[in-house]
Amino acid sequence: MATVLTDDDIAMAREANFVVALTGAGVSAESGIPTFRDRETGLWAKYDPVQLATPEAFERDPELVTRWYDSRRILCAAAKPNAAHLALARWERELEKRGHILLLVTQNIDRLHHAAGSRNVIELHGTLWVWRCATCGEEREERGGAFESFPPRCACGGMRRPGVVWFGESLSVDAIRRIEKALKACDLFLSIGTSGVVYPAAGFLRTAKDECARAIEINREPTPLSRHADRSWIGNAGEILTELVERAFPATVG
Ligand code: OAD
Repeated sequence: MATVLTDDDIAMAREANFVVALTGAGVSAESGIPTFRDRETGLWAKYDPVQLATPEAFERDPELVTRWYDSRRILCAAAKPNAAHLALARWERELEKRGHILLLVTQNIDRLHHAAGSRNVIELHGTLWVWRCATCGEEREERGGAFESFPPRCACGGMRRPGVVWFGESLSVDAIRRIEKALKACDLFLSIGTSGVVYPAAGFLRTAKDECARAIEINREPTPLSRHADRSWIGNAGEILTELVERAFPATVG
């Protein structure tokens, strides 16, 4: 059990009526999916994002880019939601029962929050599971095994790409609008397992705080956001969220 949480922390979680939780790669780390910026194990310690996660990279070398994303798709297909995903899904249900809201904004493209049962989810950086044609725009859910050709082809002959948002691409205007509204209305904001360096997501904690929400960070180590947070809980997201939700909403028997 984590020990960083005080009774005041638990009361704050229990009393929040509108929670916005922003999640990053650290939340999926305990499911065996590598993060981006952890010093030795992070993807960006081994690969260059400019060569893999930009529209220019796809134009230059579509085979390399689609092989890389397909290998991540296959890795994520084998992954299971962990304690952090499950605790957030339970928190959403507890609030829903009381007519309250938990909005999950994730930068992760693995859909493990959905697999855990979360329903109110915004996928800020898109998803690995939907691929779309770069020519005609047709989208298709891809749940099967590895592709046979790289890049995979659309019936129109165009190249298909993962439905993720690459560096230099725009985020969904609708998603940003919904998030901005939620940041104004929420009373508790959590930034969980994200290094807090990629915008606009990295700016959400400060916006929520400026709008009078309590701002919490959960991370294995301090980040540039830590000094802006009201509380910074250092530890594994799975342990901390499990304890937080179990103590705030103890299961009733019978
Ligand atoms: P990062 O890899 O930048 O950060 C992951 C954070 O999670 C780090 O601060 C770790 O300390 C923390 N962490 C790791 N394991 C943890 C655990 N078990 N519990 C709690 N914290 C843990 O990932 P993101 O912040 O999600 O975008 O990265 C943001 C974006 O940059 C990604 O969506 C991706 C990337 O480049 C694109 O590819 C467009």
